[in-house]
Amino acid sequence: MNTTSPQFSGTDVLITGASKGIGGACAREFSRRGATVWLTDVDDVAGCALADELGQGARYRHLDVTSESDWITVVSEIAQRGSLNVLVNSAGAAIKAPLVQTSLDQFRAMIDLNLTGTFLGIRAAAGAMSAGGSIINLASLRGVLATAELGAYGASKFGVRALTKVAALELADRGIRVNAVCPGSIDTAITASADFAADDVEAYVRSIPMQRRGTPAEVAKVILFLAGDDSSYVTGTDMLVDGGTAAGVRTPKKSTQKV
Ligand SMILES: NC(=O)c1ccc[n+]([C@@H]2O[C@H](COP(=O)([O-])OP(=O)(O)OC[C@H]3O[C@@H](n4cnc5c(N)ncnc54)[C@H](O)[C@@H]3O)[C@@H](O)[C@H]2O)c1
Repeated sequence: MNTTSPQFSGTDVLITGASKGIGGACAREFSRRGATVWLTDVDDVAGCALADELGQGARYRHLDVTSESDWITVVSEIAQRGSLNVLVNSAGAAIKAPLVQTSLDQFRAMIDLNLTGTFLGIRAAAGAMSAGGSIINLASLRGVLATAELGAYGASKFGVRALTKVAALELADRGIRVNAVCPGSIDTAITASADFAADDVEAYVRSIPMQRRGTPAEVAKVILFLAGDDSSYVTGTDMLVDGGTAAGVRTPKKSTQKV
């Protein structure tokens, strides 16, 4: 028996980067709870396949978050049907390189995708949220703790937290709440590139207090909390979903004893 409550029935939810990873998990969770889900991405094949799998109430549209005209096209289509209620800005990518080995094009591409894409999304969605709404931006633990070799990525995610707070201040009187989530290490494709091939993932996992990476569904459930009425008095926050990593430091032990 499906006991999931249709908490988001009658709600239009727009998700960027929805073809896979955290955005894909959000699409699944909102769909299970009765929302009309607008999946968007640049990976049209995977996005269409997921929308088909989710069935009635889910539809896919191509939306490159760095394209102002793509935002206008998709948001206008939703606005013609009524009010947009929820935006999840999940599209993003990461490059890993020391700052002095990061090219100008790479740096600009990170800012363009992760930060400018979020700005364009907030601006477009706010115009279509005539009945109020909730915007959730994907920041990162790396936008809370500065991390060597993640300079461009970290700068973009520190910026997402700043944008989130400014938007929360400016949109509160229109009934639009704006929050961010800051995931730690989540098991998705984002770190699958050659940039991350030299990372010692096992050693990294041992440094996480909960001793494991998170799942996309665990991030999606926090996003659903921030999207719905259970968080009606929450705006301008940046919520860590990181297995305790940013809580502080633990003293390393000499032996293999657990801390
Ligand atoms: N996975 C993690 O460990 C982690 C940790 C912290 C924050 N995040 C953030 O969460 C968000 C989602 O990451 P993920 O782990 O699901 O990654 P992912 O690679 O699984 O998914 C990202 C999606 O974004 C899409 N995308 C890329 N460029 C795009 C563009 N220009 N326009 C529209 N879509 C585009 C990709 O096609 C992909 O479907 C990102 O913003 C990422 O920075 C992820």
